[in-house]
Amino acid sequence: MTTVLVLNGPNLGRLGTRQPDVYGTETLEDLRRELDGSAPDGVTVDLRQTDDEGTLIGWLHEAVDSRMPVILNPAAFTHYSYALRDAVAIVTEAGLPLVEVHLSNPHSREQFRHTSVITGVATGVIAGLGFDSYRLALTAVLSRVPAA
Ligand code: DQA
Repeated sequence: MTTVLVLNGPNLGRLGTRQPDVYGTETLEDLRRELDGSAPDGVTVDLRQTDDEGTLIGWLHEAVDSRMPVILNPAAFTHYSYALRDAVAIVTEAGLPLVEVHLSNPHSREQFRHTSVITGVATGVIAGLGFDSYRLALTAVLSRVPAA
């Protein structure tokens, strides 16, 4: 049995009503349902969201301690949180795959979104494809899960 942590940062709990022109009209609960539906047998998707940086870092430590692969949408923390970057590095240095995802394409938006302090320590990054970013990330992390 493999559990994939799908971690979402600040303001992603408002999906559905937050800037629908950028993020679409589907909610985080819709994403949970869709990922549950696309998870292969024997794979559990554990989707979480927080607006709190410390909580997100705690979940990344949990990923290391429980050997769980991670899909991470760091939201605005992407652009400036060195604390989150350090926590992501702990995950990938432990040999666990962590794919950074974004619903929108940050590179086609404001200048401050063009920088990710996370990408350099992530296994990979998928952006601009809406919920498909997460679906593709699920396939990518599952094909990289180290043997137990
Ligand atoms: C985001 C992009 C970030 O720039 C933004 O702060 C978010 C969401 C995305 O999924 O497109 O909150 O990570």
